[in-house]
Amino acid sequence: MKISAAMAVLFALVVVLVGVLCVEGRVPGEIIFYYFSQQWTGSRCGGERSCCYPKTGKPAPGFVIEGLRPQNLMNEDLKNCDPKDQLNPSKISDLTSELQRYWPSLACPSRSNMRHWKNEWSTYGTCGNYVLNQTQYFKAALNLKKEVNLLDVLIKGGIKPNGGSYDLYNASETIRMAVGYMPGIFCVKDKAGKTLLNVIIGCTVDGTSYNDCPGMLGSDCGPSFKFPPLK
Ligand SMILES: *[C@@H]1O[C@H](CO)[C@@H](O)[C@H](O)[C@H]1NC(C)=O
Ligand SMILES: *[C@@H]1O[C@H](CO)[C@@H](O)[C@H](O)[C@H]1NC(C)=O
Repeated sequence: MKISAAMAVLFALVVVLVGVLCVEGRVPGEIIFYYFSQQWTGSRCGGERSCCYPKTGKPAPGFVIEGLRPQNLMNEDLKNCDPKDQLNPSKISDLTSELQRYWPSLACPSRSNMRHWKNEWSTYGTCGNYVLNQTQYFKAALNLKKEVNLLDVLIKGGIKPNGGSYDLYNASETIRMAVGYMPGIFCVKDKAGKTLLNVIIGCTVDGTSYNDCPGMLGSDCGPSFKFPPLK
């Protein structure tokens, strides 16, 4: 009896130790999940702020993809993992018309979308290319955007892009009820100092669907934000 009790304790200890070692054994540069962020063009490009569109045209109005950014165990961005791994345009040729609409370059001065995507791939995509390769990375972002139409979800919850002011908690809950995770909601200030909805972030482990984020994503908006019209 005594021996088997001791064995049980020992066994439990081993299980706990192996668990701890497995977590601690993770490589610091290892990707644990991705942040998927979308930005509201009405804030990013409206009012006093401006966007410069690529010569190929304007993106779709509404939320556009800001990025799909791999994170490590400490919730740090992983960046620039393989300078030799450049985006090959032929790997995303089937996706370019959708990417132009939903993952545009908005930076000034205006630059080509392909340059923007190459930059996103080398900065962020390369760090997870054993999870999502070049084609899969861009496809995953488009699919995540389609899987949950954020604007529809917000409008159905009474949060409309009409310049009105909305309660942050109410917006977080509206999104959480529709998609099952608590989003991160981030704001920018316009020149008058008003807080505008800017970016909404969710998490995904492998790009196929949304997952709960490890830890709270939080917000920098304060108790409420303005939701500027479509742009
Ligand atoms: C990405 O991986 C998929 C599935 O393994 C494969 O079919 C595809 O050819 C790969 N694409 C690239 C760009 O490596
Ligand atoms: C958000 O506020 C509106 C109006 O007060 C209310 O009808 C709705 O139920 C709230 N949504 C959530 C998710 O709390």
